Amino acid sequence: MRRKVVAGNWKMNMLPDATMSVLEELQTLIEGATAEVVVCVPFTDLNYAYYATQEKKTVHIGAQNMHWEESGAYTGEISPSMLTAINCEYVIIGHSERRQYFAETDETVNKKIKAALAHGLKPIVCVGETLEQREAGETVSVITSQIHNAFEGLEAKDLENIVVAYEPIWAIGTGKTATKEIADDACGFIRSMVEKLYDKETAEAIRIQYGGSVKVNNIDELMSMPNIDGALIGGASLDPNNFIYFAEAALK
Ligand code: PGA
Repeated sequence: MRRKVVAGNWKMNMLPDATMSVLEELQTLIEGATAEVVVCVPFTDLNYAYYATQEKKTVHIGAQNMHWEESGAYTGEISPSMLTAINCEYVIIGHSERRQYFAETDETVNKKIKAALAHGLKPIVCVGETLEQREAGETVSVITSQIHNAFEGLEAKDLENIVVAYEPIWAIGTGKTATKEIADDACGFIRSMVEKLYDKETAEAIRIQYGGSVKVNNIDELMSMPNIDGALIGGASLDPNNFIYFAEAALK
């Protein structure tokens, strides 16, 4: 039985004060929720987020990106050990905004996943097609090559610590959520790929989220689908009152 995982991606939002007060409120609200709750905050909020959550430990903290190298002349970058040094647990890798605006490639995604795992960080690996690719019937081939390249050189046991997020780019921040069937098909396809690349047990264990305009009014139907094990939520995750709903919806 896969434990559902609901993750907020706060993107470039929230100053430390707001982060701490939202997390305080969120922790009280989600007490008792059995879905795993993760909040991925900006780098500058990570330390504050850790201190705001370390007592109750009901919310797991994640970063939104990292470099794969340990250290060096990479101005502006953050290394995996810089994240673990401040108790960060998860890290989003290959978000479409990183791919689109910051030249993230399948190759850098693979390097980052390996570096994250080597440091005990849990990557949330994002894949998904553009609207043009979907309309051209390329969804399956796009996801196939993204997953293939992302997992290159990884062993089955590595996948125990990976969450995959299927995030069609046309659904992110647009208000156009994928239907539950589209989302479940894509997550099911990813699961079948994992079975082909590894084995049935690994495929059944890996957690695959859906992301893209997840809201209070659509999370229930998305979470009711057999292949969807949680959600990666951007805009709607900034409100702690939504989060309790998300955490509960993931369990129905
Ligand atoms: P959204 O973002 O929920 O605002 O569409 C999702 C994401 O980018 O992870």
